Amino acid sequence: MKPRHFITLNDLSADELRAIIQRAIELKKMRADGAIYEPLKNKVLAMIFEKSSTRTRISFEAGMAQFGGAALFLSPRDTQLGRGEPIEDSARVISRMVDGIMLRTNDHETVTTFAQHSNVPVINGLTDRFHPCQLLADLQTWFEQRGDIKGKRVCWIGDGNNMCQSYMNAAKLLDFKLAIACPAGYEPEQALLDETSSHVKLFHDPKQAVIDADLVVTDVWASMGQEEEQKSREKDFADFQVNSALMALAKPDAMFMHCLPAHRGEEVSTEVLDGGQSVIWDEAENRLHAQKALLEFLMK
Ligand code: CP
Ligand code: NVA
Repeated sequence: MKPRHFITLNDLSADELRAIIQRAIELKKMRADGAIYEPLKNKVLAMIFEKSSTRTRISFEAGMAQFGGAALFLSPRDTQLGRGEPIEDSARVISRMVDGIMLRTNDHETVTTFAQHSNVPVINGLTDRFHPCQLLADLQTWFEQRGDIKGKRVCWIGDGNNMCQSYMNAAKLLDFKLAIACPAGYEPEQALLDETSSHVKLFHDPKQAVIDADLVVTDVWASMGQEEEQKSREKDFADFQVNSALMALAKPDAMFMHCLPAHRGEEVSTEVLDGGQSVIWDEAENRLHAQKALLEFLMK
């Protein structure tokens, strides 16, 4: 039987996604209560990182340990992947030895190819196109504080990047409205805009997009791998900072999220990032609980 993978949010039905979010909230409470729960005893998750990570690595590694299993940190530098062993062969071999595989890669296609040849569930831990694990944590953070997100207004400010595109999938799946404000030339993929047009609206003026938003989200202007564009992006995104003036146009109780790491004074002002509407620390912590719910769903 083919294993279930988690490459984008669209690998889940809306019901499954809601169930994982609710389970994440339960697992968070169980951990706070000191409960020992080891559904993945003796199971091993391999984690392949082509790019840096703090939250993703630690949350998966800690989550597997808390579940009674183990996680292996692998980088192309110290495996044969970095010396040209084909992705297909690596997937066949690694998946014969472990129970799940998480990958963070430059190209989205690396993860899809890997999944095609893996006998065990493959999880996308961020690619150039999507970051679905972060959405699990963001959605948990919304649900635990405000209830269901159906019908709410979310505003994405900034680059039409991997995070933005995962928000687009989430909007359609969970039936919320997403207003995206990005500079010309930094829009998300047209095919995805077409696919999600019932729920997503594109703007080039952040002040228009943010009106009446329940949740405002942003991300760095230059993602990993785009470091050489930092200076030109700083110019192109200069009018897209989330600051108090912009937040004032959203609903008075709007929440602010950022997947982190953040650049204070660039995509977000210090006062917003560290202010009362920001839920970034819960959001970061929820990576642990949400991914434990995902691991349980895929690997138990
Ligand atoms: N938000 C996120 O994925 O963080 P890391 O790059 O630290 O894993
Ligand atoms: N868009 C960012 C997210 C980091 C978690 C990047 O891809 O670098």
